[in-house]
Amino acid sequence: MRVLVTGATGYIGSHTVVELLERGHDVIGVDDFSASVPSVQGTIEQISGQPMTLVQLDLRHRDGVDALIGSVQPDALIHFAGRKFVGESVSDPIQYYGRNVTASINLAEACQRHGVDQIIFSSSCTVYGEATILPVSEANPIMPVSPYGRSKAMTESVLSDLAAAWDDLSVLALRYFNPIGAHPAGILGEVPIGEPNNLLPYVMQVARGERPELSVFGDDYPTPDGTCIRDYVHVVDIAKAHAIALDYTTRYRGFEAMNLGTGVGRSVLEVIRAARDVTARPIPYRIVERRPGDAARVYAQAKRASYHLDWEADPDLHRMIADHWRFERSLSSERRLAS
Ligand SMILES: NC(=O)c1ccc[n+]([C@@H]2O[C@H](COP(=O)([O-])OP(=O)(O)OC[C@H]3O[C@@H](n4cnc5c(N)ncnc54)[C@H](O)[C@@H]3O)[C@@H](O)[C@H]2O)c1
Repeated sequence: MRVLVTGATGYIGSHTVVELLERGHDVIGVDDFSASVPSVQGTIEQISGQPMTLVQLDLRHRDGVDALIGSVQPDALIHFAGRKFVGESVSDPIQYYGRNVTASINLAEACQRHGVDQIIFSSSCTVYGEATILPVSEANPIMPVSPYGRSKAMTESVLSDLAAAWDDLSVLALRYFNPIGAHPAGILGEVPIGEPNNLLPYVMQVARGERPELSVFGDDYPTPDGTCIRDYVHVVDIAKAHAIALDYTTRYRGFEAMNLGTGVGRSVLEVIRAARDVTARPIPYRIVERRPGDAARVYAQAKRASYHLDWEADPDLHRMIADHWRFERSLSSERRLAS
């Protein structure tokens, strides 16, 4: 298939492009390089042994999006591009509605105009908000509590409404839980920009000695060790789900949402212990105040993806962290400084 991938040089996009190229698809990537670098293209091609096309475009520009989709005429769109940090979305909501919602509407409009009838969209478990029913299934209510979560829920609504109006359209919203890890080749992974917002990139920087210690936000939650529990899932498993999902969107019509997680919750202290095992570094931490808005426990029920996509994520936390660590150690100091 000819697949247009937005956010193709970002963390999850780049791993997915590798999977698509390895399965023989023709990939046209697009990114504005606001949170990634064009040289990722070379790394993707090195791992997969296949060429890809990469276009620079800010998807908030409606005419540019229309011209791109009109000229590429893809069979399917996989849409990753956007911003992904809850805290940043609270302080800069307009950027989130622009990059996550306006850009998605531009893409949806161009897909409709040019007859691109398969769309896979990067959604997030943040659409569920502070989930009260565990494990979190797709039947949980959609009650996002941040501009980021609302930007994902709004985009799902736009795509779902379009699928209701256009019989041929197939949309699959994949709601990721907490992607971590890196490609096992050790040269492709996440390069955090500035201070990391997520736990594992932070743990890795403490392990490398770039930061003196980790702050653990609260140890008095109603969990076995008092720290927050999340569902960490290997980025390569997430990438594989997208490649498999292309078959699904070829066969089915309408809008569907599926969780992507392992179904296993891990506490912050479990992650620190596993990271100590993998890196053989001390990783000091300090317990600090809870962060407002952090739910105690969030983990997925991913039976729908298992049933429809025949997809399951490997819950081996040590393997995820080992792959992440291998990539961290391969990162050049220039790349680190550039980010
Ligand atoms: N990583 C996670 O923890 C996580 C969890 C759930 C959902 N998601 C979603 O998955 C998607 C991919 O996440 P990621 O971790 O790869 O993020 P990322 O920041 O690594 O990649 C996003 C890419 O989109 C590009 N981009 C941003 N705005 C753009 C625009 N207007 N035009 C063109 N390109 C633009 C960035 O340059 C970047 O390369 C995002 O939509 C995110 O919300 C991520």
